[in-house]
Amino acid sequence: MTDHIQFSPDQEALVLLDQRILPGREEYFVCRNTQDTIYALQTMVVRGAPAIGVTAAYGCYLASREVDPADAQWKARLEKLLKDLEEARPTAVNLRWAVELMRKAWHALPDLNLEALRAKWLEMAREVHAEDIEINKAMGRHGADLIDDGDTVMTHCNAGALATAGHGTALGVIRGAWEQGKKIQVIANETRPFLQGARLTAYELHKDGIPVKVACDNACALLMQRGMVQKVVVGADRIAANGDAANKIGTFGVAILARHFGVPFYVAAPASTFDLSTPTGAGIPIEDRTPREVTHVGEHQITPQGVGVFNYAFDVTPAELIAGIVTERGVIRAPYVENIARIIGGK
Ligand code: MRU
Repeated sequence: MTDHIQFSPDQEALVLLDQRILPGREEYFVCRNTQDTIYALQTMVVRGAPAIGVTAAYGCYLASREVDPADAQWKARLEKLLKDLEEARPTAVNLRWAVELMRKAWHALPDLNLEALRAKWLEMAREVHAEDIEINKAMGRHGADLIDDGDTVMTHCNAGALATAGHGTALGVIRGAWEQGKKIQVIANETRPFLQGARLTAYELHKDGIPVKVACDNACALLMQRGMVQKVVVGADRIAANGDAANKIGTFGVAILARHFGVPFYVAAPASTFDLSTPTGAGIPIEDRTPREVTHVGEHQITPQGVGVFNYAFDVTPAELIAGIVTERGVIRAPYVENIARIIGGK
């Protein structure tokens, strides 16, 4: 699945499969400017760290179309749009990574006129988009060897094709094992409150014919206690320099249970998800989303009127619970500080 993020040259717009209404309806949301793109990111029309990065790269191009070369202030106005875009969601570092990539290319060529900058950014956004699929396939090849024939693999949230430009990170590893001919099964934790597991992971694996069952988030301990899970593979939104990994709320609990029951717990993420400027997971900002995602299922309110809720969207799994981090450059193992600095930081 790769048509969920498309740039339409005819419409001069970014066209996104609307993940808010999957699997019931397959409809597209069109972003024509920065505001549309920020709206799509914040309401999770598009979500998942690498997909957020690809969207942001096209968002920079759309921003460049909104400023007027005749305006003496166009550079300042463009920078403001980039800043707004970069701050659309706080946890997935791929958002900042993509905007920073575009910004650096712009600042490296300060004399570029706006027309030339637009052309450069569209070309760069297309490259980020195409490269992400290749990166995920490489991750799938490296990670496939961690999965044995006959394994049942648990995953949390959606780290699949929909969360990336295609193929997926955690689901890329699962697809890699499946393509090797291994007979595997997948347990998709439903992932309250946005239900990325129940709606999106189940949707894309089922579409590809990979056996998948959805489990309530709170079934994890029972399933592991009964020996029904051999591996866990999840994605990440940001990985600190010491290997602590932020991912969808609930991931940390799955990792603790996996340690308790002796189930290897792996994270799969591209180099762009590492944030070497953040030493440990304690420095990763955790998104606090609208209460409505918890108080309502669709239009239906499930909590008493006036009762407060928590809606932290992510948690941080300490590196000590992670058996390995699958990247496009290979599988990183402990000691994480040294190995991440060498493999990701090039030190
Ligand atoms: O809030 P979301 O849906 O953007 O959160 C997504 C996740 O937590 C994914 O597991 C993560 O981004 C990895 S995606 C390949």
